[in-house]
Amino acid sequence: MKAKLDMPDIALQTKSLRCEYRVGRDTVIALGGVDIAIQHGEFVAVMGPSGSGKSTLLNLLGGLDQPTAGEVFLDGHNLADYNDDQLSALRRQKLGFIFQRHDLFPLLTARENVEFPLLLGGVSPVQRRARANEILTLVGLANKAEALPDELSGGEQQRVGIARALANRPLILLADEPTGNLDSATSAEVMTALTDLARSSRLTLVMVTHDPEVAACADRILQLKDGHLVTGNGSVQ
Ligand SMILES: Nc1ncnc2c1ncn2[C@@H]1O[C@H](COP(=O)(O)OP(=O)(O)OP(=O)(O)O)[C@@H](O)[C@H]1O
Ligand SMILES: [Mg+2]
Repeated sequence: MKAKLDMPDIALQTKSLRCEYRVGRDTVIALGGVDIAIQHGEFVAVMGPSGSGKSTLLNLLGGLDQPTAGEVFLDGHNLADYNDDQLSALRRQKLGFIFQRHDLFPLLTARENVEFPLLLGGVSPVQRRARANEILTLVGLANKAEALPDELSGGEQQRVGIARALANRPLILLADEPTGNLDSATSAEVMTALTDLARSSRLTLVMVTHDPEVAACADRILQLKDGHLVTGNGSVQ
């Protein structure tokens, strides 16, 4: 049995989280010791200049990268206690990811893209299809279910990405500039779809954004600068 922090309200917590990259002879400190605590159901926006460590933080929170030092607790579990297979399973069960540029499978339809994580999770074909149709309806794409990514607009592709990230009902959604390359009207549409879903399902949402209008929808803003948190530290002692 792995040790579990007994903090039922905390979805994600970091302790002195540090990430360094070796570049030739130099060491880049991408994150220099960050302590945050994010409650279940909270919507946290992560802001800061280019190179301040936002994507690094998100990747560490999702167990996609290993910290140089410090710890990440997901739903009370220390990610360091998990091997690669266990981490993959944990990600599949509890996390959804949305990346800046959509990474849909080009040869699969919108519905098949959304079904894909459910397929990996061993969900039956009938249930997969039902869930995919349900979630595509929620993001306003019921009529585009059989379209290929190429046949969709940028905003529609992003919404398929949201639907796919939410298909397995994750506890936590990590989104790295999901509206970064959309015009402001489409960005507002995607944000509405996302925040409605987050609020209705008590999803914990951590979103990197440069857009102040998007950040204004959040419960809290974490501001990073040079790998350090400058405001919004929600550490719960
Ligand atoms: N794989 C890597 N190897 C070396 N240095 C890296 C690597 N990934 C990130 N860095 C460095 O770490 C720092 C933080 O990068 P990160 O990608 O987290 O920034 P960011 O805040 O997401 O920036 P942006 O807004 O441009 O996406 C930067 O100085 C970057 O150059
Ligand atoms: Mg980034």
